[in-house]
Amino acid sequence: MKVSIIGTGYVGLTTGACLAYLGHKVTCIDSDEKKIALLHSGKTPIYEPFLTELLADAKSNLQFCTGYASAVPDAELIFIAVGTPPSPDGSPDLRYVSSAARGIGEHYDGSFVVVVNKSTVPIGSGNWVGSLVRESYEQHRGRKANQQFSVASNPEFLREGTALHDSLYPDRVVIGADDARSLEMLYTLYRPILDQTFAAPPYLPRPEGLGAVPLISTDLASAELIKYAANAFLALKISYINEVGQLAEKVGADIQQVAKGIGLDVRIGTRFLQSGIGWGGSCFGKDTSALVATASEYNLTMPIVEAAREINRRQRERVVEKLLGELKILKGRTIGLLGLAFKPNTDDLRESPAIDIARKLVERGCKVKVHDPVALERFQEEYRDLAVICCETPEQVADDADALVLVTEWQHYRELDWEALAARMRSRIVLDGRNALDRVKLGRFGIRYLGIAG
Ligand code: UGA
Repeated sequence: MKVSIIGTGYVGLTTGACLAYLGHKVTCIDSDEKKIALLHSGKTPIYEPFLTELLADAKSNLQFCTGYASAVPDAELIFIAVGTPPSPDGSPDLRYVSSAARGIGEHYDGSFVVVVNKSTVPIGSGNWVGSLVRESYEQHRGRKANQQFSVASNPEFLREGTALHDSLYPDRVVIGADDARSLEMLYTLYRPILDQTFAAPPYLPRPEGLGAVPLISTDLASAELIKYAANAFLALKISYINEVGQLAEKVGADIQQVAKGIGLDVRIGTRFLQSGIGWGGSCFGKDTSALVATASEYNLTMPIVEAAREINRRQRERVVEKLLGELKILKGRTIGLLGLAFKPNTDDLRESPAIDIARKLVERGCKVKVHDPVALERFQEEYRDLAVICCETPEQVADDADALVLVTEWQHYRELDWEALAARMRSRIVLDGRNALDRVKLGRFGIRYLGIAG
């Protein structure tokens, strides 16, 4: 099928690469000329494992451009996958979605097309996008846009760092529209994934035993709500284990064992029960906030979701409290942060706990040193205002540190020579913000190990 994708961020580019790999003819559009130039040269503007390889393998089915004129008129499906960053009040800023919808309306030629919302937009946005496309079409063409297009929702559930795997081998595909024709077209588009009939790329092997992928084909509003309800549930699962972790610490229980013990009940499940500093990233914070805001438009409150947000906020404070408890005085102390990205295998810093923690420590008068195996360069570009010392190696972070905090559980950090690291520190205190290190081993090197819970 002929597909155009507006936006070459994590979602757009991953979707584009996967659909092209499956054999569809894909055009990716981005107004940022630098990004498009980079993609033309075979590089990617984001760090995502195997994306460069998949883009190269799908090259013959992929085009990149900056304007709508060559990409919109021909397309059967047009995906909107632009950013919806949080506004200062927490609600998603929809200006890029609006401009994409207007751009589609201006350029499409009147033959039937499905406009697919892939960006996470507030519930009800399908109708809003439809009205913008229609308005723009009528303004530019001077005639009515009767039944020539339809709007569908196709939420994504990919995780950064494993985005391609999640897209090619999803747990389910959700499509939502209020007309049968759009649902049929989306079904045809995703058929190779639903039936798992494509040849798996060698670097992204198909999980053993994966059969057909379930399809949820529903109405627009349900598809939109599924996305929010899923992210909020995952967020509250994490906050739940972090809340239990606080009690575990008081009663002397091991939160890792508790998580395993409850997670093996298949009704609960072991995943997303990893306790620690809590969630970051561009999705959970924004989506839980938007869900609460949407509910309030209907005079509803969502106390469970609100509590999950509050617990997540507290987890970050606990890092500072724990350091204060150990060091007694924070002013003038040197604290090293290992990890800046909001999770391993990405260079994404949005809503990363590391940023919040670094700010809090700087405000308290600490000298803060930071390192990240991948996100350091991006951090230097995006957080010039944050008065911290960027280090090229974890060893430099450890030099004369009063404490080290593991903020992002990169594999690289788990494998460090902690004995050598400890020898460089002023005092051997390690706060493991992800409960990811081996406390017994660290103890052998004279390190005072602190977990975040338990
Ligand atoms: C999340 C969802 O997992 C995806 O399904 C969804 O598509 C995506 O948001 C989105 O809406 O775009 P992502 O934000 O990439 O994906 O990352 P996750 O792997 O979900 O991790 C989010 C945060 O939770 C990270 O900071 C991670 O460290 C933290 N986390 C995760 C925990 O603290 N404990 C866990 O057990 C799992």
